[in-house]
Amino acid sequence: MNRPAANRLVVVSNRVAQPREMRAGGLAAAMRAALKEHGGLWFGWSGKRVAPNERALHRERAGNIDYALLDLTREEFETYYIGFANRTLWPLLHFQPTMMQYGRAQYAGYREVNKLFAERLAPLLREDDRVWIHDYHLIPLASELRALGIGARIGFFLHIPLPPPELLINLPCHADLIATLGACDLVGVQNRGDARALTHYFTGTLGAKRSGDAVLLGERRTRIAAFPISIDATAVARQSKAAATSSTIRNLHASLSGRALAIGVDRLDYSKGLPRRFEAFGRFLAEHPEWRSRVSFLQIAPPSREEVPEYRELRSKLERSAGATNGRYAEPDWVPIRYVNRSFAQRTLAGFYRIADLALVTPLRDGMNLVAKEFVAAQPADDPGALVLSRFAGAAGELPQAILVNPYDPEGLVEGIEQGLTMPLEERRERWAAMFEYISKHDIGAWRCAFLEALGS
Ligand code: UDP
Ligand code: G6P
Repeated sequence: MNRPAANRLVVVSNRVAQPREMRAGGLAAAMRAALKEHGGLWFGWSGKRVAPNERALHRERAGNIDYALLDLTREEFETYYIGFANRTLWPLLHFQPTMMQYGRAQYAGYREVNKLFAERLAPLLREDDRVWIHDYHLIPLASELRALGIGARIGFFLHIPLPPPELLINLPCHADLIATLGACDLVGVQNRGDARALTHYFTGTLGAKRSGDAVLLGERRTRIAAFPISIDATAVARQSKAAATSSTIRNLHASLSGRALAIGVDRLDYSKGLPRRFEAFGRFLAEHPEWRSRVSFLQIAPPSREEVPEYRELRSKLERSAGATNGRYAEPDWVPIRYVNRSFAQRTLAGFYRIADLALVTPLRDGMNLVAKEFVAAQPADDPGALVLSRFAGAAGELPQAILVNPYDPEGLVEGIEQGLTMPLEERRERWAAMFEYISKHDIGAWRCAFLEALGS
């Protein structure tokens, strides 16, 4: 559906899915799919770190998308991206306040970059554009745009969880930061619980007035609503079928020698619950010796945010854990955990999902988790695999037919793995059909339309 130029869509996010780039991450993957037909301007970080006098705004057009990509200085990268976005907001919003590192210099750097984004974006905007800002890196951006006199409709979507006010107030600058969302016409979050939490924060902590599903802070009416993000289910299903002829998929299939395959696909991030998942798989083999040599667990875990110390620590921890389980149970012709630290194109992942009998999606907390939905979309209808899904992933609210587990419950994880591997075909078909129908209807196109319709023009 192409929109008239008068209603141009301007997407702003820190991470941009750039032409010719393959990078793991839900936001970039989802927005690439969302913009595929619609087109528009996509403004964000170029991914480059430069000296202050070398900063440039790179313009490019690919398909129906105009890209405007801004370099950051090394210092901005440290304070804004590594510091405040990824060491303060990321752990706190994922319900891990004890991992939160806060510093005023980091917050100041974060605010500065938001101001800079506004200053560089404002001259590119037309009066009747609709501006759609994404994720925790850019919470104050709408207020910075308003300060520059931008009157366009502005929507904000948070891809990650929004914890209740009791947790949010651990952030020293919580009021200063969250109040800036009052500059938006619409704030979207992943589910109704998150929408409730944000509304409570606005009314209880900031003293905003409530009016229906909106809050009033000052002059503006800001609507807060849930828009669970999704995937291009048709494209994933198509890619998974097409992948059957690819040599990568055929090689993986041949290497299994008829064994079952369990799969996990996650950025190497502590929110994904990987250490507990690895331990659970080891424990499953310990308690179910009949499964040794009969199932392989392939974990794809591309490194992410490697400049953040907590991520580097996680990487060493997982190497030790996978090594210990493999050392204990491996046979000359079988390795229990295949741990792969690189990223794959989505069409290749679709092929991996299709030949897997089981997916392990067990984050400690996740805004949505698109991998869970991609796994479902990629399954063959006649013999679909089973999905073990953390109840703390946003996707659990939409896919109740998955095997829902609590990632903090080691015995429960082991039971989930066993249930998935032994589930009768009829039951797998029934559960899968319900999930597939749901995600086919609630796909990325429906998500984009719902948000933009609510934003208005
Ligand atoms: N992904 C990818 N290549 C990889 C691993 C992941 O393209 O090697 C994609 C995956 O297909 C999914 C996204 O990255 O679309 C991850 O999104 P998700 O919501 O599961 O987690 P996030 O990384 O956003 O926390
Ligand atoms: C999550 C976040 C995104 C982010 C992605 C990858 O999906 O919600 O905002 O882009 O992870 O992380 P990165 O730091 O590489 O952008």
